[in-house]
Amino acid sequence: MNDVAAGLVETTVQRYRQEYGVPPGAVGCAPGRVNLIGEHTDYSGGYVLPAAIPFYTVVAVGEGQEAVNRLSSSTFGKTTFPTDEIVRRGTFDDYVAGAVREAGLTGRPVDLLVHNTLPPQAGLSSSASLLVAALAALAELQQKSWRPMDVALAARRVENEFIGVPCGFMDQFAVACGREDRALLLDCRDNRFIEVPAVVPGHRWLVVYSGVRRELASGGYKARVVALKGAVEMVVQRTGMTADFLRYHTQGDVAELAGRASLSAQDTDLMRHVCAENARVHAMRHALEGGDARAVGLLLQLGHRSLSRLFGVSTPQLDALVGYAATVTGVVGMRLTGAGMGGSLIALVREDSAGQAGERILTFVRENLSPDGSVHPIERFSGGVETWRP
Ligand code: GLA
Repeated sequence: MNDVAAGLVETTVQRYRQEYGVPPGAVGCAPGRVNLIGEHTDYSGGYVLPAAIPFYTVVAVGEGQEAVNRLSSSTFGKTTFPTDEIVRRGTFDDYVAGAVREAGLTGRPVDLLVHNTLPPQAGLSSSASLLVAALAALAELQQKSWRPMDVALAARRVENEFIGVPCGFMDQFAVACGREDRALLLDCRDNRFIEVPAVVPGHRWLVVYSGVRRELASGGYKARVVALKGAVEMVVQRTGMTADFLRYHTQGDVAELAGRASLSAQDTDLMRHVCAENARVHAMRHALEGGDARAVGLLLQLGHRSLSRLFGVSTPQLDALVGYAATVTGVVGMRLTGAGMGGSLIALVREDSAGQAGERILTFVRENLSPDGSVHPIERFSGGVETWRP
C-alpha cells in the first residue's frame, strides 16, 4: 500500500474507533480510475484501457453492536439500514447496502465507516471504488479468501442488479485490479487483460475535473446502452454477422452494414464510434509501449472528437475546453474520460510546461465551466484494492 493510502487507512481506523468505540475488524481501500481510451466500448464486449489513480475510498467494517446496520460517511453523514430485508431505497447508502447484501451478511449486523478522497460524481468511478472497497473489507471481515477479479465481478453484480445501472465492467475492474504505473488493456468479452505502461517519458498526465457532476443513473447512459444493443441486434439479424462484429471491422464496413440493416443515422454513428474506439485502444497500447507522445496525443484528440460528434456524450463547454487546451503550450492531447456529459477529462502534457499548462486549464475551467473544477497532476498511477486487518 502506498503512503497516501496508508495514511487514509490510519485516519479511517481512528474515526471508526471514535464513532463506534471499538476498532474495526477489517478495512478495504480502493482507488479511483481514469480511462486512457476505449470509451463506451465495455458493454458491447470491446476493449478498454483504464488506469487507477491515487484518490481513494476507504471502508472500515466490524461486527455490528446494534440490531441494524450502521453507516457513517465523511461525505454523506450517518444512516442505518435493516439487516434482514435489504432493498434499494434511492439514498446514498444504497451502494453500501448492496455490498452488505452481496457479501451474504443479511441478518447479521455490521457497523461501517466510509472515508474518501475520491470526489463523488466526478466521473472517476467513485461508486465502483466504494463498492469494491466495501466488498473486499466485508470478505476480509468474514475471513473469506478473495481475489481482486472476484471482488470486481461482485461489484458489477451490485451495480447491474441491485442499483440497476446497466454499466459495463471497466470501472469495477480498474479499481480492483489496478497496477502501479500501468494501464490495463481489458478485453471485455472474456475479462482477460494485459499491462501497458501508462507513463510517457518527459510527459505528465493531468486529471481535469470539469466541476460538472454526473450520475450514471440519470438516464442518458442507459439510453445509449439500450440503443447500441438494439442496433447491434438489428445488424446481426439482418446481415447474419456475429454479435462481436464491432471488434473487427473498420468504420467504413460498419457504415455499410448499418445501411444493409436500415439503421438510423444516429444508431449508425453510435456503432461507428465503438468500432473506431476499439481500434484506438490497440493503437494507444502501441503508442504507450513505444513512448510515442505525439501518437498518444493524437489518439486522445480523435477519441474526444468521436465521443462528441458520433456518440454525443460531450457538451459545447467540454468541447470548448478541449479546443482551448489544444492551444496551450505543452498540451499534447485531451479527452473526456468515463461516461461523459460532465465529469472529468484527461490530458497529456509535456513535463517542462505541466505546471503552467495546468494553471491555464484550471482558469479556463473555473471561468467557463464551473467554479468547482480542479486539476490534478498524476505523479503515479495506483495499485488496485487492498485490505487490512487492524
Ligand atoms: C461508465 C461506466 C463504464 C463505461 C464508461 C464509458 O464509467 O460505468 O462501464 O461504460 O462509463 O466508457
